[in-house]
Parts: sequence; C-alpha cells; structure tokens
Amino acid sequence: MKSDEVGLRRLLPADDRATADLDDDALAACYENAGASWLRVNFVSSLDGGATRDGRSGGLSDAADRRVFDVLRRLCDVVLVGAGTIRAEGYAGMSVDAVSAQWRTAHGLAAQPRLAIVSNRLALDADDAVFADAVTRPLLITSRKAAADDGVRFARVADIVECGAESVDTGAIAGALAAIGLPRVHCEGGPTLFAALAAVDAVDELCLTLSPLLVGGHGPRITGGAADLTTRMRLDTVLSGEDTLLLRYLAERGADRDGAGRNG
Ligand SMILES: NC(=O)c1ccc[n+]([C@@H]2O[C@H](COP(=O)([O-])OP(=O)(O)OC[C@H]3O[C@@H](n4cnc5c(N)ncnc54)[C@H](OP(=O)(O)O)[C@@H]3O)[C@@H](O)[C@H]2O)c1
Repeated sequence: MKSDEVGLRRLLPADDRATADLDDDALAACYENAGASWLRVNFVSSLDGGATRDGRSGGLSDAADRRVFDVLRRLCDVVLVGAGTIRAEGYAGMSVDAVSAQWRTAHGLAAQPRLAIVSNRLALDADDAVFADAVTRPLLITSRKAAADDGVRFARVADIVECGAESVDTGAIAGALAAIGLPRVHCEGGPTLFAALAAVDAVDELCLTLSPLLVGGHGPRITGGAADLTTRMRLDTVLSGEDTLLLRYLAERGADRDGAGRNG
C-alpha cells in the first residue's frame, strides 16, 4: 500500500482479518476469479444511484475506489469498455503503473492489460489519444458489417475483433476475447454495455463502489438502455474504506455451479 492510499478493511466475510487493513496481496485475494474465463464489471455509484457527477464517473471516485480500481486492472487480461465511455471519460494511454506491471508479470500475466472497445457504429476518431497514446494496441469489437464498411480506418491503430454479423453479438464478446488468449475480462462500463451484458447473462461478477455522496440530477444509473432486467446477484465480499463501501457481487447462477465461472 502506498503512503497516500486509504486503508481498506474487509467486513464480509467476517473473520479476524476484518479488523486489519488489507495489503495489496490480501486485497487481490478478495477478487480471485472463480473460473478460468471470467467477466467482471466494475462501477462506482452515488448513494442515490447516480453513475456520474458532472457527466463523468471520476467525481464519484475516491482513494478507496481508486485502490480497488487499480487492483482489478492488475488481475485481468483485458479491460473492456463501451465506446460511449471512451468518448465521455478519456482513456488516453490506458496502462497500469510499474508496480502493478511487475506484479502482473510475477503472476504470469502480460505486463499491461489490453484495452477492448465495443462499438456498433465505430463512431470513434482513429487519431484520438485512446489509440495514439496506447501502450498496447487496442482491440475494437464490432460487427462484421461495420468492420467491412469502416474497419480499414482503424487498421493502423487497432486490431478489429469481429463479433456478430449486422451488430455486435454481446453474448459472444467474452468468448471472442477468450479465443484470442484474453479470458479474464474486466469491464469498466459504461451503463449501456453493462445492461446489454446483463441482459444476455454474460456477467460473472459486479464490483460496485458505493460512494458516500448524494448527487441528485438526472444522470444515468449503472445500467442504461431500454431493456428491463431481472438479474439477481449474490453478495460475496464487502470492504470499507472510510465512508465508502466496496461491494463484490457474483452472478446468482454461480451459486448453482459451486462457484464456477462461465466456463469453469
Ligand atoms: N459510474 C461509473 O462507474 C461509470 C463507468 C463507465 C461510464 N460511466 C458514465 O457513463 C456514461 C456513458 O454511458 P453509455 O451508456 O453511453 O456508455 P457505454 O456503454 O460505454 O457506451 C455506449 C456506446 O458503446 C457502444 N456499445 C455499448 N454496448 C454495446 C453493445 N452491446 N454492442 C455494441 N456497441 C455497444 C455503442 O457505441 P457506438 O455508438 O459507437 O456504436 C454505444 O453507443 C458517461 O457519462 C460515463 O462517464 C460511469
């Protein structure tokens, strides 16, 4: 733990460790994947259910959230993000720091996770910093149609992963990433992508930071889009850092399968 980082404690499951601040390895152990192929989603929300403050998630985040956010990036092969979040948040040169890169290689992962952007329309600028400043070549997940119509624009800066014929087949995203050696998927949003993944039962885990803020307004929730969801999840772990709660929920179906992941 760095000197400017906030201490995190484990409230659930409750045992002796609950009273002690978690070091980085203990924190990583709280987020062990239950299956070889795994799709984790991470969001921060205000107490009143807002997913943004002034149009972005950063205003909801704090030191506790950032610590878990960094650990989750450490544990994955690929960071999956919807194009709307790329447009809103700025993912220029996404990378983990040197300590995390070293931790990753010591644990058999590539030094840096890949970034995979999901888009139907490919409404992205190939000169954008998300591509220009990338430390590993980004992946663009799109349909065969969009790839044929417009994919050439990105040939210089990204690898296209075709997933679906006319539009992206959301239920096939994790399989497509696993097929290219990226089975541990860490999705950082946004709400449209999360809702679409949940709607096809593709989410194994939700890590939700509950920020101690009320934000009001008409901003989005962590799921977006028109579809109603009836997804129930099972509470696995609760951490606290000052006034912030860090909740780990697993897909309810995991309970029926002895904690195994999608392919586990
Ligand atoms: N609180 C948090 O933790 C958090 C996390 C992330 C984002 N956010 C916030 O959420 C807002 C953005 O919301 P959003 O719903 O627009 O984000 P989003 O899901 O990242 O972006 C939606 C766009 O991504 C592409 N996309 C998403 N799901 C897709 C699917 N299943 N198939 C094909 N394409 C798909 C489409 O791009 P094309 O239009 O290019 O086809 C779609 O228009 C921002 O304000 C951001 O700050 C908050």
